[in-house]
Amino acid sequence: METVLIVGATGNIGVSTAIAALRTKRNVLAVVRSEASAEKLFKHVGTRDGITTVQADVTSDQGVQGVVDQVKAGKLPAFQHVYSCVGGDYVNTPLTKISTEYLRQQMNRSFETNFFAYRATLPYLLEQNNPNSTWTLCTGAQGDMGNFAMPAMTQGALFSMAAAAAVETKGTNVRFNEVYLAFRVEVDEDAAQHDYASRASDFAAVYEGLLARPDIQGARVNVFSEADFKELKVVQKGLNLGGEDSSKVSYQRS
Ligand SMILES: NC(=O)c1ccc[n+]([C@@H]2O[C@H](COP(=O)([O-])OP(=O)(O)OC[C@H]3O[C@@H](n4cnc5c(N)ncnc54)[C@H](OP(=O)(O)O)[C@@H]3O)[C@@H](O)[C@H]2O)c1
Repeated sequence: METVLIVGATGNIGVSTAIAALRTKRNVLAVVRSEASAEKLFKHVGTRDGITTVQADVTSDQGVQGVVDQVKAGKLPAFQHVYSCVGGDYVNTPLTKISTEYLRQQMNRSFETNFFAYRATLPYLLEQNNPNSTWTLCTGAQGDMGNFAMPAMTQGALFSMAAAAAVETKGTNVRFNEVYLAFRVEVDEDAAQHDYASRASDFAAVYEGLLARPDIQGARVNVFSEADFKELKVVQKGLNLGGEDSSKVSYQRS
């Protein structure tokens, strides 16, 4: 049975990912920061079955690496898929009011965490060489909308990381993709209180679809409305230069 390692497992998107993994008969290895967060995950997913939790500090550059080391030592289940969705604050602070300390804290929580997760897990997936492996990153359209400055900037960095990861994983056993979400998804209990939010259990269909589609690789999956949960809107990452593959373009002077 396959296992999905989820980094950011206890949040809205992480819960949705765990639901998708279990529905597709996969197990979950959930990275959590505390026992309390693990209980939150079990409650929102509705079961403990199929879920292994491991505590780690995902904000530290060695946090997820420590999890991979335990997997390699046989202390935790091997995994074939990674989904990363650690997130920071969703607040509207104008650019000119963002302190240096807050900028660095949020870049750490929303960007570095996901980068550290990729850097620690990709070599492991390449070494395992499982032909079905995937690596998925959730990003938000706030990075293009720009009306919440701090989350906009962290998402912008994630868009670029996804572009680089799509290039680097091309031709490997790992299908890297970015899920680009343009509206609010919350765990079902919270979504029931907010008419602007969609349910995590419904959004799970996007990851279920992505896991089932070996043709989706190096892509951004656009989720603009609930209609996109089941009919995946797939766009290749990279710059469209009139049909030329941007990963092969050199910017050196001729
Ligand atoms: N939800 C959406 O509608 C939406 C829309 C567009 C894009 N996204 C993307 O998905 C990401 C996650 O969104 P979300 O709604 O799932 O966020 P969330 O519910 O706030 O969850 C964030 C996750 O990150 C963890 N985390 C946050 N700060 C941490 C810290 N200092 N140390 C350790 N863990 C920490 C949380 O752990 P705890 O549970 O322990 O706090 C949780 O697992 C966003 O940042 C964005 O990139 C989400």
